[in-house]
Amino acid sequence: MNVLVVGSGGREHAIILALKKSKKVSEIFCAPGNAGIAEVATCLTTDSSVSSLLALAKEKAIDLTVVGPEVPLVAGIVDAFEAEGLRIFGPNKKAAQLEGSKVFCKSFLERHQIPTASHQSFTDTILALEHLEQVGVPIVVKDSNLAAGKGVTVATDKEQARAAIENILNAPEGGELVIEDFLEGQEVSFLLFLDGQTYAPMLLAQDYKQAFDGDRGDMTGGMGTIAPVSLLSESQYQYVCNDIIEKSLAGFKKDDIDYKGVLFIGLMVTDRDVKVLEFNCRFGDPETQVVLPLLKTDLLDVFEAVIDSKLKDIRLEWSDDAAACIVMAAPGYPGMYKKHIPITIPNLPEKVTVIHAGTAKQDGHLVSTGGRVLGVTAVAKSLPEAIKIAYEAVAAIDFPEAHYRKDIGSRLNKPS
Ligand code: GLY
Repeated sequence: MNVLVVGSGGREHAIILALKKSKKVSEIFCAPGNAGIAEVATCLTTDSSVSSLLALAKEKAIDLTVVGPEVPLVAGIVDAFEAEGLRIFGPNKKAAQLEGSKVFCKSFLERHQIPTASHQSFTDTILALEHLEQVGVPIVVKDSNLAAGKGVTVATDKEQARAAIENILNAPEGGELVIEDFLEGQEVSFLLFLDGQTYAPMLLAQDYKQAFDGDRGDMTGGMGTIAPVSLLSESQYQYVCNDIIEKSLAGFKKDDIDYKGVLFIGLMVTDRDVKVLEFNCRFGDPETQVVLPLLKTDLLDVFEAVIDSKLKDIRLEWSDDAAACIVMAAPGYPGMYKKHIPITIPNLPEKVTVIHAGTAKQDGHLVSTGGRVLGVTAVAKSLPEAIKIAYEAVAAIDFPEAHYRKDIGSRLNKPS
């Protein structure tokens, strides 16, 4: 089977590495890919528009397309491929609005009584600033539209909240934002496969989203992940299944949303309860880097079962190991960052996989091209061991001025 993976980051590299284990996959293409992906798949040049990707899929006789990032999903790539009779893994345009519009998502959650932080949405700066004066800080300001994981500000002072509001709403094309209550607790990434009828949960992961150690600094796309995490007690896990996932499935049916693909539920686990922070319509990045290496079931079979609504016939099997991913980013990320930094990766232990997120080859040498550059991932018998091995590998990689967090995996890792 010929498979096309859409995207160019660490998530797509991790998906391809998992697909390579399937005997049913004959050739993997990636559009556009990166230098690491080019070592395991055929990278195709593309402008990443839906029409170009459709043309590539036809030209290469692709049997199955897997979409990594949210942007093409929100733009309707699944609808366009399905209209041409092509098989594609991911939610359609209507379902992807759950990530494409935070306002849409919050109103879905409220309509179906799914626990989430109280919120109000605004398109008008004056009204948003008035609301800020009423509610005070700490408060969370979220760009309603896609912002590559950087549209969320947890404001601890009013000046920071005002700046975030003005930044989003004073954009020349206008904007929309959500202001919601700040929830204190631990975030957990709960990813599941959904086939329109039923769901299959993946192992729980935890992302470290702020740029600096101790959860300080700006939000990033994610600076490192660990899996599995045991941050939900058994009763909390059951609560998530009944009061969040089952209610969401019922809500999809009521609202005529045919959700097939990965649903990534960002949860906040507080002392008192569990609430939904956000819905994402795709695999997490870098959650995928730690979840998929632990999946023993053939990933291609899972993708096919989702598309054919046969997920109930599949039992996901997971390894007993643990995984840690440390993101090495370019200096300056998530702000303006340096590019074209030469990188040398030595031979590393077998337990380590260096997943590429933003790399290219320049005159035969590996260089950085993105903000998040590498995801150094280790799989071991325990989480502490995986973290240790991953950090040893990070130290061995020659990547001048690389920025990475030194505290991935350091949070409390037991039921709250
Ligand atoms: N790591 C967070 C995300 O993928 O949105």
